[in-house]
Amino acid sequence: MAVTLLLVAGCAAGSPTPTRTSTPVPIPTLDPGQVARGGPVYLQYCARCHGANAQGAPSWQQPDARGDLPPPPHDDTGHTWRHGDAQLKEIIRGGMRGPFNKTPELTMPSFKDQLTDEEIDAVIAYFKSLWSPEHRQYQQALNLTPTPTAGDAP
Ligand code: HEC
Repeated sequence: MAVTLLLVAGCAAGSPTPTRTSTPVPIPTLDPGQVARGGPVYLQYCARCHGANAQGAPSWQQPDARGDLPPPPHDDTGHTWRHGDAQLKEIIRGGMRGPFNKTPELTMPSFKDQLTDEEIDAVIAYFKSLWSPEHRQYQQALNLTPTPTAGDAP
């Protein structure tokens, strides 16, 4: 069955848009062990902000009273699947502050002192287990897109 990749605009953090290709990227398989290791990491470090089921904060699309964006979902209803693996790792290691936020602090904290690279990879695998095959395929196409254009870094 032919699968058409949806080309969508990048989210606040910016995403490279995969090049339209006539050969669909195969749907990537998940390592069940890695997903199983990522779930508890998520619950321990991420769930208090992003929700027990990665559903995001209520009204996550509306800036809060300080003008900052609340924690988004990591399931299909959010936009995490619109970031390639390298960008997700960078966000989790270094934290981020959306370009539209009004305060200067990092809204998403850095986890480089708390999580190993293996734990970060596992938590990303856990996110992928929440995504539809179409979103996993879209995200895999991003992973295979060689170089993000300048200015895409969060
Ligand atoms: C203190 C609250 C808080 C915690 C804890 C937290 N985050 Fe976040 N995270 C945020 C906020 C707020 C944003 C949105 C930042 C913005 O847009 O400025 C965010 C954004 C992100 C993004 C970018 C999402 C996207 O779709 O653009 C990723 C990925 C992410 N967080 C992963 C994690 C992971 C993994 C953990 C646990 C290891 C974690 N976060 C823990 C608050 C948090």
